[in-house]
Amino acid sequence: MIERDVIVIGAGAAGLFCAAEAGKRGRRVEVLDNAKKVGRKILISGGGRCNFTNMYASPANFLSQNPHFCKSALSRYTQWDFIALVEKYGIPYHEKTLGQLFCDNSAKDIVAMLLAECEQSNVVVTTRTEILRVEKSGTGYHVETSKGLYHCESLVIASGGLSMPKLGATPFGYQLATQFGLSIEPTRAALVPFTLHDHDKAVLAEISGVSVDVYASCNDTGFREQMLFTHRGLSGPSILQISSFWEPGNTLQINLIPDSDAHSLVAEWRIKNRESLLSTCLSEFFPKRLTSALMQINQWENKPVKQYTSNELACIADSLNEWQLKPNGTEGYRTAEVTLGGVSTGQLSSKTMMAKDVNGLYFIGEVVDVTGWLGGYNFQWAWSSGWAAGQVV
Ligand code: FDA
Repeated sequence: MIERDVIVIGAGAAGLFCAAEAGKRGRRVEVLDNAKKVGRKILISGGGRCNFTNMYASPANFLSQNPHFCKSALSRYTQWDFIALVEKYGIPYHEKTLGQLFCDNSAKDIVAMLLAECEQSNVVVTTRTEILRVEKSGTGYHVETSKGLYHCESLVIASGGLSMPKLGATPFGYQLATQFGLSIEPTRAALVPFTLHDHDKAVLAEISGVSVDVYASCNDTGFREQMLFTHRGLSGPSILQISSFWEPGNTLQINLIPDSDAHSLVAEWRIKNRESLLSTCLSEFFPKRLTSALMQINQWENKPVKQYTSNELACIADSLNEWQLKPNGTEGYRTAEVTLGGVSTGQLSSKTMMAKDVNGLYFIGEVVDVTGWLGGYNFQWAWSSGWAAGQVV
């Protein structure tokens, strides 16, 4: 039997960070992962440059059944703490937009930093290890694996969510939580592109690759960023953001000209652009392909402005400022960046991440029902929750 103080299951962002913190306290720690490589999501994140945190991260950027749960960890280990660590390692980085910090060179820098931290704290990291069974023992946990039987005092579950099964995502964390009597908030894919109904897709797939600055909203929340038409539907930052707030059957409202009041605009057209074709007026705002797709999808005739009735122009204005689009669904876990829902926070300590009724069992990172917006928030949750557990395991 292999004896450890702490076993961490999952060598991703949260698991490696927590392990290093625990190791610094002199705990004998081993991280076990079933994948061939550690930190695979870190490596592909941010287009290979890892958006490792956000300068403006605050509890308001997270979704959870209990929006207060993330406050303690986020305030005790902040984005500035992580930025200081990145600077200590001399990793060059930059702000891309909206406080989002990316590596200048490669996400590999972040993985190398986490592994260096683990090495300095004598943490053992073991990959290609299947977890076969976990049982409570009198003084801790027995963890039966394809590499042998372990015993530990503290067991940390950092196995992530369900997004991107190709990268090794499994429901392990939820199953283990259920085994120990914890409940799971329903999970669904988030930060994910939308698919469209056939009639919309037939027109909009034609403009795949076109991107436009919009304000996309749903269920009283909205985001002003780019929207990208794809050959399957809609993507881009504003769409990924709003997908976390969308529920099946909901309609999206998309303001296609967020800096203009479309009603004043069409009133102006009626005076100044009476002889102009509608497509000419619209092309002031949109690329040609998008203009013709919008005309087709809304069945607007391409005639001079003067030939439209005021009601027709008012309808056009409504569609420009509040285009109503009902997605067919999302692309699901295959392409989602994160999983909404997860281990219910009601049964975890927000200070330590330990299950309140199961001594020595901890849940950190994405497996917990805390989901960040797009923009480095999810990694910040991994660091903050990993740090919180790392101080006590
Ligand atoms: P993570 O998924 O990182 O790690 C879980 C680990 O557990 C994995 O190593 C896995 O192999 C292992 N595991 C799973 N099941 C197991 C089992 N049964 N046995 C043993 N091990 C098991 N966030 C952000 O803030 N900025 C960004 O730029 C991006 N970009 C991004 C791009 C893409 C394409 C994706 C899919 C996701 C992002 N994210 C992101 C989200 C971010 O990657 C995610 O929130 C964190 O990686 C979560 O960290 P965890 O450590 O909780 O899980």
